[in-house]
Amino acid sequence: MRFSNWILGVLGVAPLLYALANTPTTKPTLPSQAEPQSDWPFYGGSSNGNRFSSLSQINRSNVDKLQVAWTYDCGEGPGGTEAQPLVVGNILYGVTPNHNVVALDAATGVKKWKFKSGIVGSGANRGLTYWSDGTEGRLFAAVGQYIYSLEAATGKNIQSFGTQGRIDLREGVGRDPAKQWIVLTTPGVIYKDLLIVGGRVSEGLPCTPGDIRAYDVRTGKVRWSFHTIPHPGEFGYHTWPKFAWKVSGSANNWAGMVVDSNLGIVFVPTGSAASDFYGADRLGNDLFANTLLALDAKTGKRIWHFQAVHHDIWDRDFPSPPALVRVKRGRNWIDAVAQTTKTGHVYVFERRTGKPLFPIQDRSYPPSHTPGEIASETQPLPTKPAPFARQVLTEDMLTQRTPEAHDWALEKYILYWGGTPFEPFEVDKETLIFPGFDGGAEWGGPAFDPESGLLYVNANEMAWTSHLTKNEKEKSARQLYLRNCGNCHGDTKAGSPPQFPNLLKLDPKWNAGAISRLVRQGAGRMPSFPNLSDADLNAVVNYVLTGESKPLQADEAAAVEQDYRFTGYRKFLDPDGYPAIAPPWGTLSAINLNSGEYAWKIPLGEYPELASKGMKDTGSENYGGPAVTAGGLVFIAATNYDRKLRALDKSSGKLLWETTLPFAANATPAIYMADGRQFVVVCAEGSKGRPNEPKGGMYIAYALPR
Ligand code: HEC
Repeated sequence: MRFSNWILGVLGVAPLLYALANTPTTKPTLPSQAEPQSDWPFYGGSSNGNRFSSLSQINRSNVDKLQVAWTYDCGEGPGGTEAQPLVVGNILYGVTPNHNVVALDAATGVKKWKFKSGIVGSGANRGLTYWSDGTEGRLFAAVGQYIYSLEAATGKNIQSFGTQGRIDLREGVGRDPAKQWIVLTTPGVIYKDLLIVGGRVSEGLPCTPGDIRAYDVRTGKVRWSFHTIPHPGEFGYHTWPKFAWKVSGSANNWAGMVVDSNLGIVFVPTGSAASDFYGADRLGNDLFANTLLALDAKTGKRIWHFQAVHHDIWDRDFPSPPALVRVKRGRNWIDAVAQTTKTGHVYVFERRTGKPLFPIQDRSYPPSHTPGEIASETQPLPTKPAPFARQVLTEDMLTQRTPEAHDWALEKYILYWGGTPFEPFEVDKETLIFPGFDGGAEWGGPAFDPESGLLYVNANEMAWTSHLTKNEKEKSARQLYLRNCGNCHGDTKAGSPPQFPNLLKLDPKWNAGAISRLVRQGAGRMPSFPNLSDADLNAVVNYVLTGESKPLQADEAAAVEQDYRFTGYRKFLDPDGYPAIAPPWGTLSAINLNSGEYAWKIPLGEYPELASKGMKDTGSENYGGPAVTAGGLVFIAATNYDRKLRALDKSSGKLLWETTLPFAANATPAIYMADGRQFVVVCAEGSKGRPNEPKGGMYIAYALPR
C-alpha cells in the first residue's frame, strides 16, 4: 500500500498554478540564417550553452562516411576529465586526464603547446573557459582548488593574475581557507571582463559554502560574491536556522552556468545543502539550494530564483548547465531558459522574469519518519513536458532478464521502502530512490535546436537504495570513520566498487602514510578532509588498516554532530551486476519546447554481451551530453558499456552512423570547422567505474574523407 498515500496526497492538494508567461519578443534571427559559426568557443558550444552547431557539411546524406581524421593521445591517466574541448580560430584547447592543458592544431591534432601546473589532478575536469577582448586571448584552467590564467597563444601562465598566476577558491568564503575543500569541476562563464564560477564541495559536514563568485579576468580580484546560503539580512536567510550561514555548506553550483550577455543575466543552477541526506540541522526550505538563480551578471544581485526541491534530503541537485532557448507561443517568440533535473523534469522560464512557460504545480509528498527531520510537504513540478524518466518503481517494472534475477529483485523489492518521488530515507530500512542519485539528467546538459525548438536530453534510469542510521554518541575511531568515510566506503568498509573502493581489500601500497596523504588531498570523487585533526586522522587511518577503535578524547573527535547518517550508495543491481529493473536503463529524448510534447525517445546504449545474446537496445548508464547540428544530426557518446559515438537523425532519432571508441567517452562532443573541413571531436578516457575496461586519454576527431 505504499503508493496509495502518495497518490492521495497528490490528488488532495488543489493545483497551484503559476502565471503563464506570454511576453512577446521580436522574431529571432535563427543561428542557421546568420553566418555559420565555425568555432566551439564555449563549454556548451555557443554563448547560449545549447550545444548547437550551425555547420552542415556533415549531414544526413553523408554522415555514414565519417572517418577518424586525427587522434591525440594525452599519454596520461587514468584521471577522469569528462572534458569537452574548446575550439577558437583553428586551435583546439583540451584538458588532459591529469588536468594539464593542451593546445592542438584543430585540423591535424598536432600539439602546439602543453601547460602543466605541477599538480597532478584526477577526477572530473570538464573543460576550460576562453576570454578575449579582441586583442589578447586568455584561458582559465582549473586544477583542484586553483584557477590558472593562461595566454591562449602560448599556454604561458599569466603571472599578474591572482597570486602568481592563479586564484585559490578556498579563499574569501568567510571561513578558514585551510579548512575548505572546493574544486572547479565544470568551467566558469564569462560576462564582459568577469569570470563567474561555482565549484564542487564535499557534501558532508563540515562543508564549504557554495558562494558564486565573479573574478576580474585580468587581475583575478573578486568583483562580487553571492551567498547561496544567505547571511543575516539577506533574502532567504529565514529559510534556514539562525546560524546555518556559519556552519552549513554546499548549495553549490557544480554543473555549470550560462550567461545571457544581452540581458546581463547569469543563470546559475545549484545543488543540495550539506549534508545530502539528513537535514535536521537545516530545517526549512534552504534557499538557494536546488535553485535556478538569475543573477545580475555585473553585480551578482538576485533578479529572480526558482527552487525546485525544498529542503532537499535526496541529493537532488540541479545536475546540468541551463540552456538558453527561444520558444514559440502562438505568434510570439520568447527568450527562455531551460533547466533539466535529476528527477527527469524540464523547467522552462522566461529569462527576464522567471515566469514558467508551462504551469508549475505544488504536489504533496510523504513526511519523514526520521526523528528531527521535517521533509517539505510539497514540491513544485512542471505540468509539462512529461518527465523524461520513469517516476515510480512498481513491481511490474522489476527485471525480467532471467527468472532468477526477477525472483531476486522481487524478494528485495518487497523488503524495501520507497520507490516513489521524494520519499524520505527511512532509518534502518533500505529505501529505494528512483530515478537514482545520478539522474535523470546529468552534467552533460541538454542540446537545443533553434530551428525546430527540440531539446535533446539524455538520462539514466537506475534505481539505487540506502538508508539512514543513528550515530552513536561515543567518540571512537570507528565513529569518526562512519561519519566521515562510511557514506561512500560503507559501514563495513566494503564500499560499492567500482565507484567506491572496498577498503577491506586494499593494495599493500596503501600504508598509513599513503592513506593519510590521500585523506588530506582527496582524489577523483573522494574529497579531502581538511577539518580532521592530526590525531583524528591517525585514528581513522589506523581503523581502516586494523579495525582497531579506541575511544578518543572529545576534542580529538571534531566531526560535526548529526544524530543520523547515511549508510552508503547502493545501486539496485541483480546478482549478475545488471540493473534489477526493466529497461530502458538509459535514454535520449527529443522534447518540443514549443508544445511540451515529445518528438521521439529512444534507449541509449547497451551492454555488448547482452546485445549479442539478443537483449539489444536496453539503454545503459550514460554521462556526457549531446550536440545537435544544422546538418540534421545529433551526436552523442556518453554510453558506459558499449563505448560508442553515435549520430542520429535529429528529427526522428534514427541511428545513421556509429563507431566504437577505444575507450568510452563520458564527455560531450564538440563540433567545428577547420581548414575547410567540419570535425566532430570527443575526449575518450574510459567509462566511470569500470576498472576492467581499457582506459586512456585521447581526443579523437572525425571528418568526411577528403
Ligand atoms: C564522497 C565519497 C568518499 C568519501 C566520503 C571517502 N572516500 Fe575514500 N575514496 C572514494 C573514491 C571515489 C575513491 C577512489 C579515488 C580515485 O578515483 O582515485 C576513494 C579511495 C580511497 C582509498 C584508496 C582505495 C583504493 O583502493 O584506491 C582509501 C584508502 C580511502 N578512500 C579511504 C577513505 C577514508 C579513510 C575516508 C574518510 C576519512 C574516505 N576514504 C572518505 C570516495 C570517498
